[in-house]
Amino acid sequence: MGIIFHEEEQVFQIETPNTEYWIGIVDGAYLGHIYYGKKIGDAHCVYLLRTEERPFVPSKNRRDKCSFADSFPFEYPTWGTGDFRESCLSIRNAKGYRGCELFYESHEIFDGKPGLKGLPATFCKSDRAGAGESGLNAGGQTLEITCRDPFLNVKVVLRYSVFDDNDAVVRSAEIVNEGAKELYLEKVLSACLTLEDEDYDYLTLNGSWARERHIEKSPVSYGKQGVDSGRGISSHQEHPFIAVMDRKGDQDRGAVYAMHFVYSGNFLAQVEKNQFDSLRMVMGIHPEGFTWVLAPGASFTAPEVVCMYSSEGLGKMSHNFHDLYRSHLIRSPYLHQERPVLINNWEATYFDFDTEKLISIAREAKKHGIEMLVMDDGWFGQRDNDQCSLGDWVVNSRKLKGGLNYLVEQVKAEGLKFGIWFEPEMVSPNSELYRLHSDWALQIPGRPATQGRAQYVLDLSQPEVVDYAYQSVAKILRSADISYVKWDMNRPLTDVGSLHLEGKYQGELFHRYVLGLYEMQERLITEFPDLLLENCASGGGRFDPGMLYYSPQIWCSDDTDAIERLTIQEGTALLYPLSTMGAHVSDCPNHIVGRTTPFATRGHVALAGTFGYELDITRISAAQQAEISGQVALYHKIQPLVREGDYYRLASWRENHHYDAWEVVAKDKSEALVTVVQVVAQAAMRSRRIHVKGLAEDSQYRLEETGQVGTGKLWMEGGLLIPRYEGDFISRIYHFVRVDEE
Ligand code: GLA
Repeated sequence: MGIIFHEEEQVFQIETPNTEYWIGIVDGAYLGHIYYGKKIGDAHCVYLLRTEERPFVPSKNRRDKCSFADSFPFEYPTWGTGDFRESCLSIRNAKGYRGCELFYESHEIFDGKPGLKGLPATFCKSDRAGAGESGLNAGGQTLEITCRDPFLNVKVVLRYSVFDDNDAVVRSAEIVNEGAKELYLEKVLSACLTLEDEDYDYLTLNGSWARERHIEKSPVSYGKQGVDSGRGISSHQEHPFIAVMDRKGDQDRGAVYAMHFVYSGNFLAQVEKNQFDSLRMVMGIHPEGFTWVLAPGASFTAPEVVCMYSSEGLGKMSHNFHDLYRSHLIRSPYLHQERPVLINNWEATYFDFDTEKLISIAREAKKHGIEMLVMDDGWFGQRDNDQCSLGDWVVNSRKLKGGLNYLVEQVKAEGLKFGIWFEPEMVSPNSELYRLHSDWALQIPGRPATQGRAQYVLDLSQPEVVDYAYQSVAKILRSADISYVKWDMNRPLTDVGSLHLEGKYQGELFHRYVLGLYEMQERLITEFPDLLLENCASGGGRFDPGMLYYSPQIWCSDDTDAIERLTIQEGTALLYPLSTMGAHVSDCPNHIVGRTTPFATRGHVALAGTFGYELDITRISAAQQAEISGQVALYHKIQPLVREGDYYRLASWRENHHYDAWEVVAKDKSEALVTVVQVVAQAAMRSRRIHVKGLAEDSQYRLEETGQVGTGKLWMEGGLLIPRYEGDFISRIYHFVRVDEE
């Protein structure tokens, strides 16, 4: 395990527990991608660069540079000098000329992994402290390869880090202007991978508001294909993830190459098949709307991309991502703690609530074991609907008679913790803040700005605005005993102009916005280290690895319907640990789709996430109230398993149009929990056989629901028989407990 430079062959071997990534230096100058996949352990692999097929030796065949450049598997391709595939780096100089070419200069290999200034990043230590901005620590290694464009005098540092306990290869790039003149970065992607097309599909996560992260699979074809976001957030519609996988691959079999972006703004994720049937995968900040001014001596850091290879299908890829994020990205103290079962008043009351109503919810909730009340939107300014008051983070004393602290203390007296909702990045045109500081909203002078949900977006490129927004939140948190914050963001960025940036810097605004957001979140978790933070953006519009660096959980979707959630949570769990997925039981008919599902099914589906309720508990039937107590007890029983275990996808209703099934297995294989949801009943069927996964083959497991005992092998190979249930939307859980004799 680790990183080695083979001097004689001039190749880098980047090794993870199960994979290898090889890079070669050709003619002391060009950095090429040799191989990524299962371990080969042989530095002679350099022939895979195929440099003899289209050689370029400046002293002999300068005329053939173009065919070399357009076929060479550049590790970090540049724009304008002969490689016509998608580039990672495009630079314009002060005279307007564009073109860039990089030559290897030096490298360094060291223990640990540096942090990225102002950006979320994975870290080596598996504790919450992280690496800090410049700290190094044990548990992994980093390779820094320095390249240079001698004409522009630009230095590019490519970083590759690996961890002792994970197969990820994490990449980022830093661009430094070592010349005397200003330069303009027109495009800086973070990483590129070169593969051969061997009958691959590509996989993305797509959707919409309330329909996030549905898994999509299509054949890779000639040209460019992929996903992106220009909305200023990672988005509901497309996710900063792309993978190519064997067409015949599945959960357990086949090669998968994945890239996931540790960033929360605009992105491009693409695979391109070229004239030679080779594939280029790239990922980074979307170049559209981006120009970064690089002053002499200044540097720009492109955010991190996680590259993941699995030779054992999607299941292994998911395990690797889950473990990486749990051990090397999420810093929250709650990561390994049971989160309080919460009740949120949004779907219960919307804007129509007051102190009394909230206390009555808390009182009833307490009887059934619920542990925290979260007061959602509508507690501040004049906010009785979504038309006003964002930015005016002052308690509405008409609704909250006696003030916030009084309410919090009353809720605590009922025996519950208290949580609160904010949307700090926004301003309503109808607000005191806007009347005072209309210049703080993103806008293009003279052009009427586009409203979204009757609101504008604050200009987070401005330190003064960032400070105001942060202090608004912090002031409230300092004023009462608040345990939890739901940080929301309810519209995309448009009219991306700042009244406070000089013209040439306007192209930096999208990225500066994200940096401003990260700064606020960093300040928040620093000042309030015990706060449980849940990010949210109209549901799951900013569910990305970047946000997980700050919060251990993210609201998965505004769609709380148990059946819709199956597909959303399947797509989310493809990459994210279940402990990060905000999931609640809500009322029926469901407010988004109008469907009615059994209360038990809603519970089982929400138990795959952080778990809580979003309904008026004072108004549901006594029978449903009683069910809550049972669900809460089940939550406490299975929480550690769901939070810490290995996740397996057993069946997908998306594919079989009948039922969904997933499983969580304890790391020590002592127990496993299978959840099955029969979405649509089928006529004239026998029971279904499900192959349980991940058990210890020779151990004995008892199925708690029936008392039946069998070996791991039996449950996995023979399978679990799922009876045919009467009716639609029926769910069951199956708990296997190891019963080996000591
Ligand atoms: C967003 C969130 C919801 C709720 C509302 C409040 O849509 O996703 O959960 O907080 O805002 O306005």
